[in-house]
Amino acid sequence: MTEKVTFTINGEQHEVGADVSADTSLSTYLHAQHLRGTRVTCGTGGCGACMVLVTRLEPDAGEKMSYSALGCLIPVLGCGGWEITTIEGLGNRFEGYHVIQDRLVEHYGTQCGYCSPGMVMSMYGMTQEKSSWTDADVEGILDANLCRCTGYRPIVDAFKAVTVQDIEDAHTLSCPRTGQPCKGRCSLKSADTKTSSCSKQSEKPESRLLQLRDATWHQPASLQELYDILSGLPQGAKYRFVCSDTAKGIYHNEGPYSTYISTTSIPELSRVAASPSGLVFGANVSISRLMSEFSTASQSLSGFGFAEKIVKMWKRVGGTALRNMGSWAGNFAIKIAHRDFPSDVFLSLMAAGAVVKSGSPYGGDKEHTLDHLLDLDFESERRVMLELRVPPLSDEVSYRVFKIAPRNANVHAYMNAAFSMRVDSANAHTVIGRPLILFGGINEDFLHAWGAEAALEDNSLEDESIVQAALKALRDEIHPDDLPENPSAKYRVDVAQSLLYKTILGIVGDIADASVASGASDLERPLATGQQNYDENADRWPLSKPVTKVEGHIQCSGEADYVADLPPMCEELSGCFVTSTQANARIVSIDTSAALILISDSPAQLFAEERSSYFGQPLGLIVAKTAELSKQGAAAVVVTYDDIQAPVLTIKEAQQQPLPSPQGDPFVEGDVEAGFAASTHVLEGGVGHDWQYHFYMENQATLAIPTDDGLDVFSSSQWAIETQRSIGQVLGVPDNTVNVSVKRIGGGFGGKITRGNIIAAATCLAARKMRKPVRTVLDMATCMTMLGGRDPFWSTYKVGVDAEGRLQAVQATMTSDAGYVNVDPNNTASPPAVPSCYVCPNWEITPVTVLTNTPNNTWTRTPGTTEGVTLMETIIEHVAVALNLDPLLVRQRNLMPDGSFRRVSEGVFRLRCGRGGRDAIAIPKQVKVEKNIIGDMLTQLMSSADVENRKQMVDTFNKNHLWKKRGISVMTMLWPHVVPLLYPMNSLVSINQRDGSVAVSHGGSELGQGLNTKVVQVVSYELGCPMEVVAVKPTTSHTNANSQVTSGALGSYTTAYSVSEACKKLRARLDGVKHALGVEDIPWKDLIEAAASEGVDISERYCNGPGEVLSYPVFGVCCSEVELDVLTGQFLVLRTDILQDAGTSMSPLVDVAQVEGGFVMGQGLFTSEKAIYDSATGKRITDGTWHYQVPTAHDVPADFRVSLLSNTPHPTGVLDSKATSEPPVPLSYTVLMALRNAVASARADGGTAGWFDIEAPFNVEKLQQLCLVEPSRMVLHPGGR
Ligand SMILES: Cc1cc2nc3c(=O)[nH]c(=O)nc-3n(C[C@H](O)[C@H](O)[C@H](O)COP(=O)(O)OP(=O)(O)OC[C@H]3O[C@@H](n4cnc5c(N)ncnc54)[C@H](O)[C@@H]3O)c2cc1C
Ligand code: FES
Ligand code: FES
Repeated sequence: MTEKVTFTINGEQHEVGADVSADTSLSTYLHAQHLRGTRVTCGTGGCGACMVLVTRLEPDAGEKMSYSALGCLIPVLGCGGWEITTIEGLGNRFEGYHVIQDRLVEHYGTQCGYCSPGMVMSMYGMTQEKSSWTDADVEGILDANLCRCTGYRPIVDAFKAVTVQDIEDAHTLSCPRTGQPCKGRCSLKSADTKTSSCSKQSEKPESRLLQLRDATWHQPASLQELYDILSGLPQGAKYRFVCSDTAKGIYHNEGPYSTYISTTSIPELSRVAASPSGLVFGANVSISRLMSEFSTASQSLSGFGFAEKIVKMWKRVGGTALRNMGSWAGNFAIKIAHRDFPSDVFLSLMAAGAVVKSGSPYGGDKEHTLDHLLDLDFESERRVMLELRVPPLSDEVSYRVFKIAPRNANVHAYMNAAFSMRVDSANAHTVIGRPLILFGGINEDFLHAWGAEAALEDNSLEDESIVQAALKALRDEIHPDDLPENPSAKYRVDVAQSLLYKTILGIVGDIADASVASGASDLERPLATGQQNYDENADRWPLSKPVTKVEGHIQCSGEADYVADLPPMCEELSGCFVTSTQANARIVSIDTSAALILISDSPAQLFAEERSSYFGQPLGLIVAKTAELSKQGAAAVVVTYDDIQAPVLTIKEAQQQPLPSPQGDPFVEGDVEAGFAASTHVLEGGVGHDWQYHFYMENQATLAIPTDDGLDVFSSSQWAIETQRSIGQVLGVPDNTVNVSVKRIGGGFGGKITRGNIIAAATCLAARKMRKPVRTVLDMATCMTMLGGRDPFWSTYKVGVDAEGRLQAVQATMTSDAGYVNVDPNNTASPPAVPSCYVCPNWEITPVTVLTNTPNNTWTRTPGTTEGVTLMETIIEHVAVALNLDPLLVRQRNLMPDGSFRRVSEGVFRLRCGRGGRDAIAIPKQVKVEKNIIGDMLTQLMSSADVENRKQMVDTFNKNHLWKKRGISVMTMLWPHVVPLLYPMNSLVSINQRDGSVAVSHGGSELGQGLNTKVVQVVSYELGCPMEVVAVKPTTSHTNANSQVTSGALGSYTTAYSVSEACKKLRARLDGVKHALGVEDIPWKDLIEAAASEGVDISERYCNGPGEVLSYPVFGVCCSEVELDVLTGQFLVLRTDILQDAGTSMSPLVDVAQVEGGFVMGQGLFTSEKAIYDSATGKRITDGTWHYQVPTAHDVPADFRVSLLSNTPHPTGVLDSKATSEPPVPLSYTVLMALRNAVASARADGGTAGWFDIEAPFNVEKLQQLCLVEPSRMVLHPGGR
């Protein structure tokens, strides 16, 4: 019996004991050991940022196995005897990089870099498990690694380019198994068994007993020891088995427990065996291992053909790493404790007739059906699950499972279903006896569809009346709960019927008409492909050269520093916010007696005092010695409320309130009433979208260090200078005592322009008060509930057109929800964005902003413009439908002529750019569109994307298929890139005399958008020095004082200008030196030495003045094609083609990456991302990866083609280029429009024609409901027999 837990990390021995707690995760431990490359974003198993490789003894077989695992879920106390490899074990700048890291960099697969170590470790995990792999395997393992920046395409390409030979030859710092220098070959010698041929047989697992501060940790090494522990527990003891501990990723706050019993060392519980009565799996066997055994059995054992269907479904259970860790028994235990948990694993095994053997210290082993298992009282009997037995099924049995979920991977089921029925196919497909029909995700009691089962019992599935009777029985017996986080009851009843119908169609096969056959199958996503086209412009390299990201390698190796990863300071304290738990209430008292030190009194108002406007509003900051303690302290604060009013949470609710509805500046031209009078058709409609979280992978953070000069502040800010100003203002100190530094941030997307300043200010307040360094790192849930995201929008419109569809008048009201206060307005830029590339004599677009009891929303990638452009695209499509015209024709007929002017609104810039939000800032009143190139771009796209042919193919597909529909959509866009007249970016370029190296510090923030890469190219181009000698330093409030914000695609663009101008001044001086020397071709280093010895100043700064950087239009066209499962609402994006105007790109790989990433972020907005609230408290329930769904690698376009418009320099732009980071977002509306077209086809089949409003996201629930599928249409012979 040992009292310590020992393990290795990258070959080094580690030991923990009572110094950690039972819930200290491996990733927390790694950070404490300064192994900070393992990032943490969600902390709940949903994002993959924390991926590590685990090699451990499999106690039953006595062999070692390796697999990728999630560091944020693994309890460090459970790591006994393990060998752990972290990103630091693969490669670094001193000893060389691993080939996987190289490939990711070469393919431009890293932008902000925060997800990159996790991506690398996922791929590394697979190469350690398998001796060979396919492209499908590569795509498969990227199911749970989220990336908000890239759109995934380059990551998938990068990893597909990694070959077995690459891995054999790979440089690996240390063997994950032996800790010795290793070339990574060992696992490749053993075929896909997850065992290693070089793994030494480990000693027998040891028992462990650790007395922790507030609990006991047992790790028995035999079943008998486990029973002894269980029987020794006092009556009523609160204990928990720990297998992989992943359940806490879903149910975070269970416990506290007095006893933890880790079961992983008990050999019997990891047993895998085959017997005549079935396959047997010990309780600890992981879901991945089950899948692998099922795959083999389905090929080799009679009666296990059905198992392949389980494997297919389970590929959508969590992500690969979660399945590598999570056991079936843990999954079952969750289901037993939380009946409403929609377990895919439980449901599919129940339909397969699996049974579970359990044991108890007080009696013999028992076998249970899964029905029975749910009713067992495990705790009172001290019972433990021992084994699962999955029997073979007779060939007569038809088995089918379904998982209906809001996205294609790493997501829990909205609902799931499993069917198992014996069918006599030779006898009119008659069901023999009682079928098994199970549903999950309905309510906590519902499992068996008894009524539907009875309706089908001994009846023919070919009999339409029987099918209808079964559907009706189902309809009558299913009564879904009405929890806000679940889809509507109607949707679930409808889909339950769909799934039964799908199953029947699948069984009867050809007996049903060909037109309904498409209802039987699931959607099959093709393997991903992509194309990227751009001019290389070699004549001006290094500018315009397709180079990889300058920080790429340090990002992919985890060496890149972010605020949370900066080394700990001496005496550092940790800050944790106390936040309100009730929206719209008066705060009566804040009791801190059980907490630690609360910082809540600030010279300027930082925290809510009188009223809590929204759930999550900051009330104060707790500081303590560790993050764990500050979190506990914050949880111990007791806040009481009265005068609780029902929170107002949506635009619709706000419109019914007497709350102020501030109106913005309307966009008015001409006379809309006259325009309507002149129109032959006047149409009205509505369009909008829900809230969107920025989903930066690096959560907001600040480190504040008191110095003799004031405060040194490291903040994850998109605007160092505004952060400095905010801190100065809140603390009431001069700005020159606040030294803010921003090196890079792990994604911002607008969420770190102003929203992080409260964290910075509160942390500085605490640091000043405590006179010690304080670091505050928010967790994801706090970011999502305390801080705002993209404003929800709802616009109503009225459009008048002539008989040819030419616009006569457009009138609209665009309502946005600013949250509880309107300080970062999104709605000022929307009205003038509406015209996009179209001409109309009469416009009247009015912005309205409502306030709700939600956090203060803020700018989010392409704010306002997205809504403006997509409103106009909706109007164009509506006109086309109403007039029965091709939408492309309507577009072409309305294109703005060359030489037109596009009006621009001032409002957004007033607030975004003003110093502290106080001063107005001049912007050009209009942007001239010298040439509207959209028509030409459209022609090009139509040809390159073969649009006309594909439209016909879609039409034919839709004619032939009732239950699968395809949609294709093309859109055009003019995005006005408005540069305020005053938008200073302050750059400093310093050349070092000794070696000619160049250090650049500029006013922009590197958020992942490739700003620093462009800057290095610009410097190298302008100075004529090699790119390798240029380094970009952090942005600081001292070197880059008074610089503007990095947002709105303005940051990279104006920074590149300012750096280029500084370099031009330097170049002129250096050219003078060359001239004086009389040599033109002098090595860079010698030139610098000569210049410096002549006393030439080899440093320069530049700050652009008013009107130096001009505004211009950016053009884009896009085509997307989708396939929709009408019966469930699930869909695939089959192909997207984008043609984007980037002028002459400064850096084509950077720009292509921006286009892809922007598009996918927009796809999330329009198809899956939304906020759900608890109506009583106002809590945003969608506060983590469990409920909030950004696109995964399995959701993005399967065929993704991006071209930068060729040979279109922009002579009045910065170095001939145009901005790319924001304009592609609205183009993703093609996905929604293509889905709308698919839905329209489905509705037409049911007899409903015409336009319908668009309330995004068009998620699976919305799509299915819009298809208006009546159960009476769920027949085998739509035209009758
Ligand atoms: C991000 C994420 C995504 C997920 N997605 C899905 C999904 O899509 N579909 C799905 O079905 N599931 C999903 N899950 C659930 C997942 O399958 C389970 O968390 C996992 O299988 C639990 O196994 P574990 O070994 O980690 O159990 P643990 O977390 O270690 O234990 C869980 C519970 O099981 C009990 N327990 C463990 N072993 C035994 C035993 N032998 N006898 C009795 N009780 C025992 C423990 O006391 C504890 O209460 C997801 C989980 C996460 C975190
Ligand atoms: S941080 Fe571990 S999965 Fe997100
Ligand atoms: S690079 Fe993937 S999240 Fe930023």
